[in-house]
Amino acid sequence: MSAEMGDLGKQAPERYAVVTGANKGIGLETVRQLATSGVTVVLTARDEERGRDAASSLHESGLSNVVFYQLDVQDLDSINSLAKFIQIQYGRLDILVNNAGISGVIVDEDGLRALNVDPSYLGLSGKATNLVQGVIKSTYANAEQCLNINYHGCTRLTEALLPLLQLSTCTGRIVNVSSLRSELCRIPNAQTRKELADIDNLTEEKIDRILERFLHDFKQDALETNGWSKMLPAYSISKATLNGVLAKKYPNMLINCVHPGYVNTAINWHNGTMTVEDGAKGSVMLALLPEGGPTGCYFDRTEVAEF
Ligand SMILES: NC(=O)c1ccc[n+]([C@@H]2O[C@H](COP(=O)([O-])OP(=O)(O)OC[C@H]3O[C@@H](n4cnc5c(N)ncnc54)[C@H](OP(=O)(O)O)[C@@H]3O)[C@@H](O)[C@H]2O)c1
Repeated sequence: MSAEMGDLGKQAPERYAVVTGANKGIGLETVRQLATSGVTVVLTARDEERGRDAASSLHESGLSNVVFYQLDVQDLDSINSLAKFIQIQYGRLDILVNNAGISGVIVDEDGLRALNVDPSYLGLSGKATNLVQGVIKSTYANAEQCLNINYHGCTRLTEALLPLLQLSTCTGRIVNVSSLRSELCRIPNAQTRKELADIDNLTEEKIDRILERFLHDFKQDALETNGWSKMLPAYSISKATLNGVLAKKYPNMLINCVHPGYVNTAINWHNGTMTVEDGAKGSVMLALLPEGGPTGCYFDRTEVAEF
């Protein structure tokens, strides 16, 4: 047990966390690890039944400090309802883990298996990209939904919970679960790369324009011509836009992004090579950062990296 976890058992003030998309995968494991370290965690899920089942499984393992609340990050009413619940129940929030995400594609899983691609290649850009294009499909609606959940859902929820995070008795922490697909070197278009890298001048309005350009090019069937990522294009830009902006806007908080690793979950059709226990370590480390810890950084698992 770490010193921090040990201290919690004695007299540290209670801490409250929200984890999104927590009915399964890395989110569920993040809740488990945070609750094990003594944090009261609101496990949220878009589906009431899946969320309640997940919370029950943690209660059965002895973690009574997990509370379920329904949250679809695409739905503003659902976001506002969660914010109201936290306000009434706890009066503040200490940790927000923006974990919910989708790939934005439909995969022919039998076709993918038949290709017999080394699973570790699927986590990398380039190597298996051409090979798997034939079994991965994405409609405009899939791409739009991906941006709505992974980027807009995350930023809308964060905006709604920020007043409560500002009331945190320690420094509020926000963890945005990103992906190595967000790394700018993977975006072929130099102008987009430059805009996203210029954190000092990057604004939410500029990001909105980048996402509009992306959707426009998707509609025109011009993604490749205009230099968007070939592998999981909507997912890649939805995650690239998460990095950076918020930390600049709220310097009194610890706001970081993390690539969890290539983890065996539903989002990669269970091709990931890491366990969820290891995959949640980066999120948990950033959620429990000591006072004065890093902010505005991108982590590859538990190490600071370039994005
Ligand atoms: N696994 C990896 O290798 C990997 C690598 C890089 C980044 N990530 C990121 O890690 C995060 C967790 O993914 P995972 O690997 O654990 O995949 P997962 O098992 O598919 O979990 C994704 C979670 O997000 C939820 N979700 C989807 N749309 C939502 C919405 N509108 N509102 C609320 N929740 C929603 C899903 O709920 P349902 O069950 O209802 O669909 C599910 O609980 C994601 O942000 C993903 O992009 C994963």
